[in-house]
Amino acid sequence: MRFIDNTILPSDITPKGVFEGRRELIKAAAAGSFGLALAPWFSREALASNPEKLAATLNPAYAVKDELSGYKNVTTYNNFYEFGTDKTDPFANAGTLQTRPWTISIEGLVKKPVTLDIDALLKLAPMEERVYRMRCVEGWSMVIPWDGYSLSKLLSKVEPLGSAKYVEFISLADRKQMPGVKSNILDWPYKEGLRLDEAMNPLTLLTFGLYGEALPKQNGAPVRIVVPWKYGFKSAKSIVKIRLTEEMPKTSWSQFDAREYGFYSNVNPLVDHPRWSQATERRIAENKGVFAPKIKTEMFNGYGDLVASMYSGMDLKKFY
Ligand code: MTE
Repeated sequence: MRFIDNTILPSDITPKGVFEGRRELIKAAAAGSFGLALAPWFSREALASNPEKLAATLNPAYAVKDELSGYKNVTTYNNFYEFGTDKTDPFANAGTLQTRPWTISIEGLVKKPVTLDIDALLKLAPMEERVYRMRCVEGWSMVIPWDGYSLSKLLSKVEPLGSAKYVEFISLADRKQMPGVKSNILDWPYKEGLRLDEAMNPLTLLTFGLYGEALPKQNGAPVRIVVPWKYGFKSAKSIVKIRLTEEMPKTSWSQFDAREYGFYSNVNPLVDHPRWSQATERRIAENKGVFAPKIKTEMFNGYGDLVASMYSGMDLKKFY
C-alpha cells in the first residue's frame, strides 16, 4: 500500500480515460445513454455527485496570481481515508456518502451550544469565494477556489467561554457509508484541531463548496474546514462536531505518529518531515500532472502577513 510520502507517482495521477470512465459510465449506463458521457457538461456533472450552485461572491482580498488547479484535478486527486488510501479512491468510492440530512453540533466550552442543520448553516453568513493555495504534507499543492465563510462567524454566535483555548473538529465515521472506516489505519473518527485564535483567524474557512458549486463528496461534503497556512491534513472533511476545549485535543494524525505529525503543522519549508524535506512542492495544475516542476514552498504557505503574528515568540521547530 502506498502511504504518505512526498512523491507523486505516475499511477497517482488518474489517467484521463479512467476518470472519464468511472462515474460517467456508471451514470450513463443508468440513464441508458452512453452518448451523453462524451458531452463536456455531463462530464463535470459526473465528477461532482452534488453539483448544486452556491451563490458565492468572489472576495478579491484572497485572490492569488497562481494558476488554478482545475476542477478535474481538485475532484479526482484526493486524500479522504474514510474512502480508501489511494488518491483516486475518494472519487471512486464517496458516492455512498449521504449528505442530507446533516447536522453539526457546536459544543464544549461555549455559552450557547447548538446543533444546526446544514441548510441553516449555509444561511448563517454571506457565502464568499476565496482562492487559496493548499499544501499537502506529502509534497504536492493545489490552488482551489473555495466557497464558504470565516469559521469565526459561527464561533462568535456560540460565544466561546474564557476557558476555551482550542477547537476540535470531528468528522463523520460511519462504516455503512464509508468503506475505509473498516480499516484501522487511523483512529476514527478523523479528528483535527486548532488553537482558538487560529480558528478565529479570518483566513480559516468553514467551507461548503468549490468552484461555485456544493462540495463534491470526495472533497468533504457537505461541510469541511479549510486552513490554508497549514498542511492539508488539518483541513478536516465532512465534519459533524465542533468542540471547544481547554486542553489541546488529540488529533488522528498525531495519534498515528506524534513525531511525524504535530498539532500545529504550519507549512514550514525550514522544518523537514522526519522522512522527507518540506522545502519544495509540486503544484498540480491542468495539463501538468507529474511533470509539474518543483517550486519553493513558502513559510506559512505564503500567508505569513495574515497569520505569522499568532506565533511570535514560539519556536516553530519545537511546535511543528
Ligand atoms: N478529512 C478527513 N475526514 N479524512 C481525511 O482522510 N485528509 C486530509 C484532509 N482532510 C482527510 C481529511 C488530507 S491529508 C488532505 S491533503 C486534505 O484533506 C485533502 O483535501 P482535498 O482532497 O479536498 O484536496
